[in-house]
Amino acid sequence: MQEIKFERTQNPKQKPADQSSLGFGKYYTDHMFIMNYDEGQGWHDPRIIPYSPLTLDPAAMCLHYGQEVFEGMKAYKSDKGEVLLFRPEKNMARMNVSNERLCIPQIDEEFCVHAIKELVKVEQDWIPTQEGTSLYIRPFIIAVDPHVGVHPANHLLFIVILSPVGAYYPEGLNPVKIFVESTYVRAVKGGIGFAKTGGNYAASLKSQDEATKKGFTQVLWLDGVERKYIEEVGTMNVFFVIDDEIITPELQGSILSGVTRMSCIEMLRSWGYKVTERKLSIDEVAKAFDEGRLKEAFGSGTAAVISPIGELCWGEKVMPINDGKIGEISQKLYDNLTGLQWGKLPDTFNWTVKVD
Ligand code: COI
Repeated sequence: MQEIKFERTQNPKQKPADQSSLGFGKYYTDHMFIMNYDEGQGWHDPRIIPYSPLTLDPAAMCLHYGQEVFEGMKAYKSDKGEVLLFRPEKNMARMNVSNERLCIPQIDEEFCVHAIKELVKVEQDWIPTQEGTSLYIRPFIIAVDPHVGVHPANHLLFIVILSPVGAYYPEGLNPVKIFVESTYVRAVKGGIGFAKTGGNYAASLKSQDEATKKGFTQVLWLDGVERKYIEEVGTMNVFFVIDDEIITPELQGSILSGVTRMSCIEMLRSWGYKVTERKLSIDEVAKAFDEGRLKEAFGSGTAAVISPIGELCWGEKVMPINDGKIGEISQKLYDNLTGLQWGKLPDTFNWTVKVD
């Protein structure tokens, strides 16, 4: 394994004193991990250095054509002081899936998990401990060739930054209001919807902005062709409980394969619930709502964790779900998932990885 060089900051920052107002993505730690890729040399010069602005050529390709990928993970500190990561190998594997689609060279997944552990170890005093908080880990890769022609890059940077965070949504675990988007689309099959890359989020901004102005927290995307089948919510995958079936859209190429989604499915099945990955139309959800069979809906994501949906608005139709309260299944998933991530419950799934 390549050796990681370490340069300690001479100017450590003040850590946020009030963990209850961390919000999401407001603070960054003292150090970051960085390594370069150069054609012919591969990934090289891994180093942990003081957190600092990047110097990029204004022609750097990531600035023009969006050749970049990213991941989202978290580190937690248990009551015993152990530092835990949650299924980090899944994120690095997904990063390589995104890399493949974006013509970015493959990373050594094991080495990158090691690098993330080393960075988190250096910054462990930054991990907040108050209930609901964690250290968000943002690995990303950008193309930096100074070239305004369109082609796959030969020079890239892999960087990891860390941010102490609280809940992603101001609602926390309170149910969110979701707007069903019928005008804009996020992705289509054959596009980049399954890859974790900035372009998908850029495509979502207009819709998100309009929904926010109408008082909604997020938008629910429908498929880009028939505008009928449910895909995902802006920053999370989505589940609906109809009768005794827990349904989540199948991964058909335009949906992100969430690590939390995968974990929810595995957890729910281990408890004996019927979980189905299939096509689910918005009409089916609306019909179930009309017939009183739509019991719960929730989103899942690293940043969002489990986020209950209290209301869905589809055109003129407003569908309050479970009286706008968190449902039994959402609560059970949240408790068990976070219990395991924060080391409060035994890790029967073997999902947590200790940083030591
Ligand atoms: C995550 O859940 O980690 C994400 O990447 C969502 C994000 C865009 C905040």
